[in-house]
Amino acid sequence: MKIFIDSASPKEIKEAMGLGLIDGVTTNPTLIARENRPSRELLQEICSLVAGPVSAEVIGLVATDMLTEARELSGIAGNIVIKIPLIKEGLKAVKVLSAEGIKTNVTLCFSPSQALLAAKAGADYISPFIGRLDDISQRGMDLIKTIKTIYNNYGFNTKIIVASIRNPMHVVEAAEIGADISTIPFAVIEQLIKHPLTDLGVQRFLEDYKKIPKK
Ligand code: G3P
Repeated sequence: MKIFIDSASPKEIKEAMGLGLIDGVTTNPTLIARENRPSRELLQEICSLVAGPVSAEVIGLVATDMLTEARELSGIAGNIVIKIPLIKEGLKAVKVLSAEGIKTNVTLCFSPSQALLAAKAGADYISPFIGRLDDISQRGMDLIKTIKTIYNNYGFNTKIIVASIRNPMHVVEAAEIGADISTIPFAVIEQLIKHPLTDLGVQRFLEDYKKIPKK
């Protein structure tokens, strides 16, 4: 499973990249707004830090506006992927961008029917938001399983990005299902590494090492 970082913070992205385990970045308008900087220069900086795909979202709600934004955003760097919301106009835009060879990540997916249509439109990535489904007492991971079955049934090449991840178990379950990618907030990446027994074990080994005679 590939691991993306879900962040627009160059500081977090640099630190995560230092692990050598990060394959890409996803941003959204909320994450960009947190950085309090013009989005174009911020995205330029992020793309210079990461060789893999960097998702940047359009704001327009009409296909023609989305296409204008998408072409503008894709000029920022060769690794930009255009995030398009899963609405009717978004699907129209994805079809056109796919024909132009501009990569798309269809976002705000909450149902299998939406995911099926995104794949048919030619989306490179689909982003089901599992945490937000959990928030309203629906099992987000069930959606990932169903999308995977549908995509396997028809051999769609659209990659599943498990998004809106809130905790380490989301990542583990995504990997069990065989999702292509998890996009993970920085804090959860850190949680994935940590285990109290590992910390305790390291501490004990260091204490015992001190007891070993030096000669
Ligand atoms: O990748 C989508 C993600 O940024 C949304 O996460 O926690 O706002 O639902 P959240």
